[in-house]
Amino acid sequence: MGFFKLLGISLIILFAIIFLPGLPPWMTFPFESYRVTPPHELVGSFMPNNYLDNAEHILVGKVNGPEGLIAKDNIWFTSNNGGEVLRIDGEEVTVLAKFGESCELPYEEAKCGRPLGLAFDTIGNNLIVADGYYGLWSVDLVNGDKTLLISPRQTLDGLLKRPAKVFNGVAVDKKGVIYWTDSSSDYGFEDGFFAMLANPSGRLFRYCRWMNASTMLLDGINFANGIALSPNEEFLVVAETGSSQLLKLHLRGPFKGQKEIFSTALPGNPDNLSPDSKGIWVPLVMARDSENPAVFQLISIYPRIRRFILRIFALFELPFRMWNAILPNVFCKKVLYATVSFNSFIELVPTRTTVLRIDWEGNVVGVLHGYDKSIRFISQVLQEGEALYLGSPFNDFIGKITLPKDFKVISIEKDSYDKNRVKQNREHDEL
Ligand SMILES: *[C@@H]1O[C@H](CO)[C@@H](O)[C@H](O)[C@H]1NC(C)=O
Repeated sequence: MGFFKLLGISLIILFAIIFLPGLPPWMTFPFESYRVTPPHELVGSFMPNNYLDNAEHILVGKVNGPEGLIAKDNIWFTSNNGGEVLRIDGEEVTVLAKFGESCELPYEEAKCGRPLGLAFDTIGNNLIVADGYYGLWSVDLVNGDKTLLISPRQTLDGLLKRPAKVFNGVAVDKKGVIYWTDSSSDYGFEDGFFAMLANPSGRLFRYCRWMNASTMLLDGINFANGIALSPNEEFLVVAETGSSQLLKLHLRGPFKGQKEIFSTALPGNPDNLSPDSKGIWVPLVMARDSENPAVFQLISIYPRIRRFILRIFALFELPFRMWNAILPNVFCKKVLYATVSFNSFIELVPTRTTVLRIDWEGNVVGVLHGYDKSIRFISQVLQEGEALYLGSPFNDFIGKITLPKDFKVISIEKDSYDKNRVKQNREHDEL
């Protein structure tokens, strides 16, 4: 075959792939251009430092991908790979609850279940758990009994009505109302790579347990993730992971229902938020800066390129998906897992690790960086006194660093936030 003939045929196939309607991917929202604010330069308060270097590793091998990490009365809870929520009392680690079915890790994650966001209930002694695949649950902290609150099969409100695909962030207010996020409506957590190429389709909801119903508050969030309620609960902050920023939603007052940017141009992708009376710990699960821009964000303004890449991968996957649907087998599962999970491209992101301290005005008041790879991919920060404990979906340990004396952040009265909430809840009960 002559060169020009070959070139011609290749071009026709290429154009067919780009423009043919009806081929995958099939998305919630059409591919349209959207912009992401470029990252702050690493100067001023963002200047490189080594506060996260030499991180200690604790509970090595006793946890596997501890994504969410919260504590109450010296007992920790973490969301683990394999669909488990673990209870950690010192060195003693036990399974409090298991979601999903028994499975082979890591390529059967959707079957295993994947708990992500955790929050303590303010009514009853429960843990509210968002399992990426299996929905929103209430788990009894004493016996681990599970109650389903929202099922992944339920159709929920939005610009388009649709079920949730990635149950991720959760927060509970003083009265027991639950706020939660669905990160993306197109692909599950295991297909994170795909989700980042599609147009933003994350949502924020308010769940009322007395009605057993969710109200949609925001749609079109670029991978909606962790949630933090302000101390007086007049607003909440939600992490927009894909756009490297935090959004603020007014819950009360004259601006009720209005959304604004709380903090933007972050040098990475924010994950779970850990609020206290003075501000929020914001871990960046992946880093970005002007030298290492996030590829997904660079191409956000080129919808055709994003669709093309997605289509190539989707077409590559299609036969394996069909084969596996007819005759489930490990080989197909492995191929499907390797092509598009977050794990397969996590090594490509810059090695810098960053945690931010942001006050309730949205100002970045402290920045911790690490460069020695002793801790990476942090998804949640748990502060206890001068120590920060660091969870991650990609580590088999919990990281620990001690806040340095010269770290510029107003000292935090750790528990006044929680105490205040429990007190107000009691007052509420008495009413
Ligand atoms: C809430 O509604 C969902 C969907 O109908 C159902 O699966 C779930 O069991 C209900 N939960 C409670 C606590 O009533």
